[in-house]
Amino acid sequence: MFEDRRGISFTASGGDAVKAFDQVVDAYLSSSPEAGPRLKATFDADPDMAMAHCLKGYFFLLMGSGVLIGRARKAFELANKNAAGVSAREQAHIRALGLWCDDRPVAAGQVWEDILHDHPRDLLAQRLAHHVHFYAGDAGEMRASLERTSNAWAEGDPGYGYILGMRAFALEESGNYAAAEKTGRHAVEVNPDNPWAIHAVAHIMEMQDRSDDGIAWIKGLEPHWVNANNFRYHLWWHRALMHLDQGDSDQVLGMYDEIIWDDESDEYLDLCNDVALLARLEFQGVDVGDRWRPVADKIAERTEDHILSFIDAHFAMALAAAGDGEKVDHLLTTLGDKGGALRSDVGLPLCRAVVAHRRGDFAAAISDLSRIRKDIIHVGGSHAQRDLFEQVLIDATIKSGDLTQARALLEDRIANSPNNPLSRQKLAAVVEAQNS
Ligand SMILES: [Fe+2]
Repeated sequence: MFEDRRGISFTASGGDAVKAFDQVVDAYLSSSPEAGPRLKATFDADPDMAMAHCLKGYFFLLMGSGVLIGRARKAFELANKNAAGVSAREQAHIRALGLWCDDRPVAAGQVWEDILHDHPRDLLAQRLAHHVHFYAGDAGEMRASLERTSNAWAEGDPGYGYILGMRAFALEESGNYAAAEKTGRHAVEVNPDNPWAIHAVAHIMEMQDRSDDGIAWIKGLEPHWVNANNFRYHLWWHRALMHLDQGDSDQVLGMYDEIIWDDESDEYLDLCNDVALLARLEFQGVDVGDRWRPVADKIAERTEDHILSFIDAHFAMALAAAGDGEKVDHLLTTLGDKGGALRSDVGLPLCRAVVAHRRGDFAAAISDLSRIRKDIIHVGGSHAQRDLFEQVLIDATIKSGDLTQARALLEDRIANSPNNPLSRQKLAAVVEAQNS
C-alpha cells in the first residue's frame, strides 16, 4: 500500500502510480484538462491499479452522456478484475461506480458517504458525493457532507482549498450567502486555481443581483479558470448572465457566438449552458436567429439518454425550439418508458411543459409547471440554473394573457430578489398592460 498526500492508502505496484493518481485527483478537483493525460501516466506506471480503472469509470459518468455508460461499465469490469487484495475503501469505490453505472447515483452517494465516515480525507469520495447531492437538488446534504468531514481538515493540508470551495458552494445553495462568500474567498486565497470555488462566489453574486461585482470577480480571476476544461464555459455563462442582467444583450450574443458555443463539445453542461442562454435571451425579446439549429443537431442522437431530468428538460427545450417535433416526441415517450418516481412525477411534466411553452400551448405549460413548481428542485442543478423553468412559467403567463398570475409570479420573484432589473422591467410591462 502507498499513501497519497493526504494519507489515504492505495493498492498499486509502486509509489509512482499513486503519485500520478494523486495528480489526476488534483486535476479533477481543479477542472484541469490535464486529468486525461495524468490518468494515462497513472496507467503507464501501473496498468492494473484498481482505483485508476475506477476513476476512469467515474470520469466517463461525469461526462453525462449515454454513449459513455458502456465505457464506464468496461472500466468497472477492469477495476473488479484487479480488485483482488485491495482495501475495503477501494472496494467500496468500485461498488459505488457499479451503482452509478446502474443509474443509481444516490445509492453511489451513500457509499461515498460511508467511505468518508472512515476516511474523511478521501477527497475523491468527497467531490463525487458533492456532485450527486448537487444533482439530487439536496443542498442540505451537500452541506452536511462537508460538515461531517470538516474536523479532519486543517489549513495548509493539500487539497484544503477544494474542500473550502465545495463548502462555499454548498452554503450558497443553502442560501447562507454571507458564510458562503467568506468561505469562497478563503478558498481562492488558499488556491486560486480552483474554478469551482470561483464559481461558488459568482453564484452568490448572481443570487444577490450583484452583476457589477460578479463581472469584476470572474474577470479578475480569469487567468485561474480560462484554461480549465469545459467547465470554463460555465464561468463564461455566469458572466453572460450578469451582462444580461445589465441589459447588454448584444454583448451576450457576441459572447455566445465567440466563446460559449463550442462546435466540438458534446458535454451536457455545455449544452445546458447553450440552451439556457438562448432561452434567456429570447425571454428578453432578443432574436437569436438560427442558433437553436446546431444545438438541436447535437442533441438529436441523445433523446434516449435520460441521464438526469435536469438535462432532459434542457434537451427537450432545444429540440422544440428548433422545431424537431419527432425528436421531442421520442424524448418524451422514452422518458415516460424509463420510469422512476422522479422522472415520472417531475422530469416528465417538466419536459412536457417546456415543450408546450415552445409550441404555444401556454395553458398546458402553466398547468404542469404550477403543479410541480415546488418539486423542480429535485431535478438538481443550481438555483440559478433552475430559474430557467421559473422564467418559462412567467413567460407562459404573460403570453397567455394571464396578467394576474404573471404579476403575482413577478412580485414573488422581486420579494426574493429585490434588485433584479429584468424582473422589475417585466413587472412594469405587466402592470402597464393591466392598466391599458
Ligand atoms: Fe453555476
